[in-house]
Amino acid sequence: MNANSHRFSRIAGTGSFLPPNRLTNDELAAQLAAQGIETSDQWIVERTGIRARHFAAAGVNSSDLGVEAAKRALAAAHCQASSIDLIIVATSTPDMVFPSTACIVQQKLGVHGCAAFDVQAVCAGFVYALTVADSMIKAGVARKALVIGAEVFSRILDFKDRTTCVLFGDGAGAVVLEASDEPGLLASALHADGRHVGILCVPGHVSGGHVLGDPLLKMDGPAVFKLAVSVLERVARDVLAKANRTEADIDWLVPHQANIRIMLSTAKKLELPTEKLVVTVHEHGNTSAASIPLALDEAVRAGKIQRGDTVMLEGVGGGFTWGAVLLDL
Ligand code: UT7
Repeated sequence: MNANSHRFSRIAGTGSFLPPNRLTNDELAAQLAAQGIETSDQWIVERTGIRARHFAAAGVNSSDLGVEAAKRALAAAHCQASSIDLIIVATSTPDMVFPSTACIVQQKLGVHGCAAFDVQAVCAGFVYALTVADSMIKAGVARKALVIGAEVFSRILDFKDRTTCVLFGDGAGAVVLEASDEPGLLASALHADGRHVGILCVPGHVSGGHVLGDPLLKMDGPAVFKLAVSVLERVARDVLAKANRTEADIDWLVPHQANIRIMLSTAKKLELPTEKLVVTVHEHGNTSAASIPLALDEAVRAGKIQRGDTVMLEGVGGGFTWGAVLLDL
């Protein structure tokens, strides 16, 4: 350890923000029906657990949602934006090609000078970003980090494709992660398997002033489902072993919120009672990198997750990427 390094990082505060426009399944189905696309509240609820999602208004970007979540996390941590020395934003829907959304968030928070960058690991983005921030704090590179997941997936949805457009929503969540001599983050594991790039992607890119290829989300849902249920159990067990803990030590499981069936299957495999599972997918849909910090913050503010509780965070998504973080709040 160098002179500035600490043994641990810990979450000092959480925050989240949803854009006000809430769309129920019935409202979305009515809009899609007007374009000749057939879906129903019954199908969406039965196959995914989703009942509603929030969509950002035109002109509202990931940085706008991220800043609101960050301000709430800073208030909960009783700290000023000026005391932050690292900002990491996990997003796959950045405001611009560059600079990073983290730099835009920094500017909107009215601070300058600290390190700021984005992490792109799609729905595993938040556990990636949290692990990077934890490592930088332990290395003495930073003392107080804002780690944000922020997305406007509504911008990349193909509203002619009913197999994907009913699944996603917009939102942001954030935590303040600070150096500490007490735990804190206990262990984490990150993985990727690029052989599965094609099962969940937005294949378009900008070239010569044009978008080349399709700029809308494509997903082979059943293939993603199958991979997700197998990796989520494994990575949770790996992280428990690294931390010398067992399944029985988990007070709360906060998984990526994509599909209630995936979440229930993971809880069952880990032999966790469903009461320990934090579920927000019914109200948020899949908000990609924002889903875990959104769910964490809602559970903290509802008084469910309390200081001292042991929490398992798990992300999985395009890449294929996946990972988990075990922490004592
Ligand atoms: O965020 C990253 C992680 N992402 C995920 O974890 C998503 C993982 N995948 C899933 O959650 C599920 O695979 C889906 C929810 C996407 C799909 O559920 P499924 O049970 O795998 O359904 P399916 O794709 O096998 O489709 C079943 C049927 C099909 O009809 P046929 O071919 O059996 O006649 C679809 O055309 O359901 C049909 N269908 C729909 N029907 C009404 C697909 N989407 C819809 C829809 N409304 N929106």
